[in-house]
Amino acid sequence: MTIKERKDGHIDICLERNVTSDHNSWDDIFLVHRAVPRVDLEDIDLTLDLLGRRIQAPLIISAMTGGTRKAMEFNRLLARGAEEFGLGMGVGSQRSGLNDGGYLPSYEVVKEFEVPLVLGNIGAPQLSSAQGDKRYGPKELEQARDMIDAHAICIHLNYLQEVVQPEGETYVSGVLENIKRMAKEFPLIAKETGAGISREDALALKGCGVKGFDVGGLSGTTFAGVESFRGGPKETRMGKTFWNWGIPTPVSIRVVDVGLPIIATGGLRNGMDVVRALSMGASAGGMALQLLKAASRGYEALSSELDIILDEIKATLFLSGALSVSDQGSLKGIMMGRTGEIFEGLYR
Ligand SMILES: Cc1cc2nc3c(=O)[nH]c(=O)nc-3n(C[C@H](O)[C@H](O)[C@H](O)COP(=O)(O)O)c2cc1C
Repeated sequence: MTIKERKDGHIDICLERNVTSDHNSWDDIFLVHRAVPRVDLEDIDLTLDLLGRRIQAPLIISAMTGGTRKAMEFNRLLARGAEEFGLGMGVGSQRSGLNDGGYLPSYEVVKEFEVPLVLGNIGAPQLSSAQGDKRYGPKELEQARDMIDAHAICIHLNYLQEVVQPEGETYVSGVLENIKRMAKEFPLIAKETGAGISREDALALKGCGVKGFDVGGLSGTTFAGVESFRGGPKETRMGKTFWNWGIPTPVSIRVVDVGLPIIATGGLRNGMDVVRALSMGASAGGMALQLLKAASRGYEALSSELDIILDEIKATLFLSGALSVSDQGSLKGIMMGRTGEIFEGLYR
């Protein structure tokens, strides 16, 4: 199967099947209500500086796609939404564009819009020394940056997906050393894709010089689940076995708090979940599947969805007694239930 077929396959599966984890940990985060909010709703400030860029709300349209005609349409819609609302946006893995110039337009389309924070995307397995001559290094990093005028590049850590795929690239040897080398050239973000980042890994990655994290935790899209629908006996079986594998997003935010910006992706469904993520210590929330579904219904649907999400963020900050996005100290988020037990278990 080519990368192109795999990419379109993922989008179709995500739109047509249930690909989310059984439990959404955002339901375990309780925000304390303030009967007397501290400022008028209209005065709540949603803007923030993230990775040296000013965005209009704490929301990133997470990495999803590139490399096919359908992907180009999605990237065009998503970039238009990011421009209209002043949000950050990531593209999906740029591997197709790096390997074959014919796929470049599906990524380059992002440059048609004024997106205030653009994040590129390269897979960690491509950085491994096991790739021999094909290993990505500073040259590919530069190409990925120029393809979309990126402000930072996400290195995606998707080993759960790779182990479930029969053709998966489960190479990790030399990856950290290469991240260290590449982080000297351009700002890198360490990004998971639905299974979360542990404290140990966050510290190691910080030591390699990454500038931030996208924790991409368990609660939403599970790539074990996505792969389970691809038909082969191995994906079907292993996809089901590993369906709920990973560190829940709220727990991952807490443990990855090592003094760098954190984007919280994984299971966010609305603006309240974004504020729940802020209460755990994230700088901004990220959404993938929710926005893919909206974009699949056209630009009006995506624009309306983003508009509502931003209103929900504002309303939740208001009702929680916060003055602005950066006033996170005023947010009181309590981690309950199964999610709270996992967090406590980590420190037992
Ligand atoms: C269709 C689809 C394709 C994705 N492709 C990528 C990718 O190429 N690179 C990446 O870093 N993450 C990719 N992701 C993962 C998302 O960026 C995100 O981390 C994950 O889906 C969890 O967020 P969600 O629960 O809001 O979907 C993809 C997600 C979806 C739904």
